[in-house]
Amino acid sequence: MSWRLIIHDRVGSTQDVAKKLAVAGEPEGVAIMALQQTTGRGRKGRKWESGASKDLALSLLLRPDVPPWRSPLLGFLAAVAVARTITPLIPRPAQVRWPNDVLVEGKKVAGILAEGTVQGDALRFVILGVGLNVNSTLEDFPPELHDRAISVFMVRGQIWDLQAAANSFLREFALLYDEMRIQGTAFIVPLWESLWAHRGAILERDGVKGVAEGINPDGSLRLKLDDGSVMVLSSGEVFPVDR
Ligand code: BTN
Repeated sequence: MSWRLIIHDRVGSTQDVAKKLAVAGEPEGVAIMALQQTTGRGRKGRKWESGASKDLALSLLLRPDVPPWRSPLLGFLAAVAVARTITPLIPRPAQVRWPNDVLVEGKKVAGILAEGTVQGDALRFVILGVGLNVNSTLEDFPPELHDRAISVFMVRGQIWDLQAAANSFLREFALLYDEMRIQGTAFIVPLWESLWAHRGAILERDGVKGVAEGINPDGSLRLKLDDGSVMVLSSGEVFPVDR
């Protein structure tokens, strides 16, 4: 995979710019980056604020040959690629959190948004959005995120050029994507699990607690409940709790 990186000063959302190109028939391999997004979005319809000219906002146009039910695995690939991109720069390795976050020191450094379009029973394209906190400082985050969000700068103490950050991520992602094209998707879940912050932890959703046992081939999460049954979650959020 080789990339065509297009950098915009200011857009609504890089997801929408990439989607427009996809609908117009652009082949895969385009990466849209913006120095500023005015309507950046996160999962579950949330807003995504990235510091103007400080953080990375990037959307990839992909046309993978995988069935739609496996499309969450592309988000996993992106999370692993982000972790591999930043780990050499920071004291302790980055980890991943289900479904699609990257953590540094237990705090969120990046979020991934995968938006797929299906035609018949095939994926027509996927727009994979990556928001990586690169150079933001604590004061750039709203107070309610101070104990949950972090940037690479906050642990590294050095500014990182955004285009260099984008290029390193694109290199890491391309290696993984090419591997997927050659050998299929089976390697993705074990690779993601090797970086998972919560394997074996107790996770809670809506008052139900269970041990994080593993991830299914479609990216869903298996929680083992006290009565021995297994709860399978395919989206949403889970929170670690004490035993
Ligand atoms: C999340 O954690 O909720 C996912 C955040 C994804 C944010 C990125 S920034 C680049 C791309 N454009 C957007 O509008 N969203 C994604």
